[in-house]
Amino acid sequence: MYRRPVTVTVTGAAGQISYALLFRIASGDLLGPDTPVRLNLLEVPAALAATDGVAMELEDCAFPLLRSVEITDDPMVAFDGCSVGLLVGARPRGKGMERSDLLEANGAIFGPQGAAINTVAADDVRLLVVGNPANTNALITRANAPDVPADRFTSMMRLDHNRAVARLAGHLGVGSGEVRRMAVWGNHSSTQYPDLTHAEVDGAGVVDRLDPTWVRKDFIPTVAGRGSAIIDARGASSAASAANAAVDQVREWYDGTEGDDWTSAGIVSDGAYGIPEGLVCSVPVRATGVGYDVVRDLDVDPFSRERIEATVAELVAERDAVRAAGLIR
Ligand code: NAD
Ligand code: LMR
Repeated sequence: MYRRPVTVTVTGAAGQISYALLFRIASGDLLGPDTPVRLNLLEVPAALAATDGVAMELEDCAFPLLRSVEITDDPMVAFDGCSVGLLVGARPRGKGMERSDLLEANGAIFGPQGAAINTVAADDVRLLVVGNPANTNALITRANAPDVPADRFTSMMRLDHNRAVARLAGHLGVGSGEVRRMAVWGNHSSTQYPDLTHAEVDGAGVVDRLDPTWVRKDFIPTVAGRGSAIIDARGASSAASAANAAVDQVREWYDGTEGDDWTSAGIVSDGAYGIPEGLVCSVPVRATGVGYDVVRDLDVDPFSRERIEATVAELVAERDAVRAAGLIR
């Protein structure tokens, strides 16, 4: 028996990630095989025709769970009744653009979207910001949606988490499904800290079996630099793996984390691990089905502490830049 249809809003619907993501949502991968979806697609006016093309392809899949597709360039229409918002569309960094210009350009996107969410989204709305700089875009969105509880805003770190799991599994010659308790801390950027300290395979810690030089000179920079390596190789940023990570993150958010494992998600900090309150920062979390619980009281060794502080410092600098630009208070 079907449940009630759920409205899923996807921004940047004509882009690369959405081209991989929308078909997974419509097929039931995001919310499960019993939940019909209504897709609301937001794009800029110049990309509405291309979005029409994507909608034609969605129709041609004859997905039983897909109830409707609405295409618009108006955030107030796109987020009307939205229970799941996937904020993918963002302004890419152009030639000669400074990071502060990028943050400002994105403020102009995520500010109005946050305001629309505040006004017209469903009471049970959950939001995943994918568009870069994802953590700070989530911060801007939240600042513009003051009536939406803080625990509904997340930024996508699942791609980094999956990359870390896959890299460790490959190194140890085990399946990815055997790796547990991976943690990625901080920003979705090259300063992120993929942390193997607590990782387990077959229920046993692995860090003592690993060469510290491999961890520091190979594992960490490879995971943290993977996005750039894909851009160099493909000539475009990751799309199918990013869409897959979005599906993984949202699905687990609703279904809960398996057993006593955990995952990594960018969430609004409550001050845990000394991370300033209000920053959207990745920490190890358990999904409970209702929300996320931070995995507290992990031992943080001096190297990890230094790495966490460095990536948090970058997030603080991004927050201060958007504050200076008047995008948040
Ligand atoms: P893309 O350029 O192919 O698509 C982006 C789309 O967003 C475009 O169609 C554009 O028209 C649209 N857009 C721009 N402004 C918009 C607005 N105000 N409202 C609605 N739509 C708008 O890019 P992509 O490859 O799909 O990537 C999207 C974003 O995701 C980028 O910022 C990318 O850097 C980021 N990304 C994040 C992760 C992550 O792990 N967090 C991983 C990969 C990519
Ligand atoms: C990724 O991690 O693949 C992307 O965020 C890279 C990018 O800058 O788009």
